[in-house]
Amino acid sequence: MAGDDSYLRIERVTKRFGAVVAVDAVDISIGAGEFFSLLGPSGCGKTTLLRMLAGFETPDEGEVYIDGQPVSGQPPHLRPTNMVFQNYAIFPHLNVARNVAYGLRKEKLPRQEEDRRVEEALEMVKLGGYGDRRSNELSGGQRQRVALARALIRRPKVLLLDEPLGALDKKLREDMQIELRQLQQSLGITFVFVTHDQEEAMTLSDRIAVMADGRALQVASPKEVYNRPTSITVADFIGQMNFFEARVSETAGEEAVLDAAGFGRMRAKLGGAALQPGASIVAALRPEKLTLSPARSDGAANAVEGVLEAAAYLGDRSHFHVRVAGLERPVAVAAQDWAVGGGDGLDEGAPVWLTWDNDSVILLESERR
Ligand SMILES: Nc1ncnc2c1ncn2[C@@H]1O[C@H](COP(=O)(O)OP(=O)(O)OP(=O)(O)O)[C@@H](O)[C@H]1O
Ligand SMILES: [Mg+2]
Repeated sequence: MAGDDSYLRIERVTKRFGAVVAVDAVDISIGAGEFFSLLGPSGCGKTTLLRMLAGFETPDEGEVYIDGQPVSGQPPHLRPTNMVFQNYAIFPHLNVARNVAYGLRKEKLPRQEEDRRVEEALEMVKLGGYGDRRSNELSGGQRQRVALARALIRRPKVLLLDEPLGALDKKLREDMQIELRQLQQSLGITFVFVTHDQEEAMTLSDRIAVMADGRALQVASPKEVYNRPTSITVADFIGQMNFFEARVSETAGEEAVLDAAGFGRMRAKLGGAALQPGASIVAALRPEKLTLSPARSDGAANAVEGVLEAAAYLGDRSHFHVRVAGLERPVAVAAQDWAVGGGDGLDEGAPVWLTWDNDSVILLESERR
């Protein structure tokens, strides 16, 4: 990631449609050359925010700055941005080259220069030589590359991509993810990428803004969002998570002792959180941070007994559900080994132990879920 971390600055931007607050006081700074993703469920305001960056919508409040300049008064074609739309719109009646050249229509270049730029853009997306192909003779992935080339041909400093891979099947999408990342790195331009797929956001991004209800709840690297979510909503949206209601019974130095329903005492690292004894909180635990074994093992900070309720073998990993007395929901456990505790898998209904470290526990403020 290149130097300036506020090349694209979104400052308290709000957008309403009637009574709907589509984007609600969003503050985000994006660096030059950064691959930045807006991640969140359908309707959370991703497209609306992207359209304000592109200039297709105007904020009701707040301002967008690009390279230090406020851009609200600027129409899309005068901004150093370009957008690849959610439902990729390439023209079926134009061939590939004419589709890509459409991106240059405002620039009125001599034909030769235009042809050169078209070929250059097609090379970037690995479609060199495809110019004469009819658009309806392309695969979904190739069509998406044409849309990309059309956006790149204007040489934008910021490329805005609205779920560009959403229509592709899983395998093709994964291939295109790698290509997109390589393309972004070789061009060195800023990407703002919209997706509701958390794995896609994690794979591609330098940083992610996790959005819900028009707000940016957390802006951080994929690792940080996964390992240190700052709210229940973020923790719930990214990956799988077990949540336990708990009360702080004592704190000593870096450690807190919690009184958790079903578990009794649970030891957790405070990690900077200032918690008072008596406070109600939520303790969160990733399934892969729990160790499942047929007998109680020594050494772990936390241990609880339960009953194996379900086990699913997925090849590269296995998923287990463990019923713990006093808990409404079973505890989800993920492990790489199917054969826990050295055996060839445990029978459903078998008594088991769960153990975990104190620094695996994420302490979150209670909120209505
Ligand atoms: N032109 C519009 N007029 C009225 N309401 C709109 C308009 N555009 C968006 N909205 C509303 O604003 C909210 C945010 O919509 P937006 O399209 O930004 O969501 P999104 O995160 O892109 O969702 P998706 O993942 O489904 O594309 C939604 O409640 C939507 O219905
Ligand atoms: Mg959208």
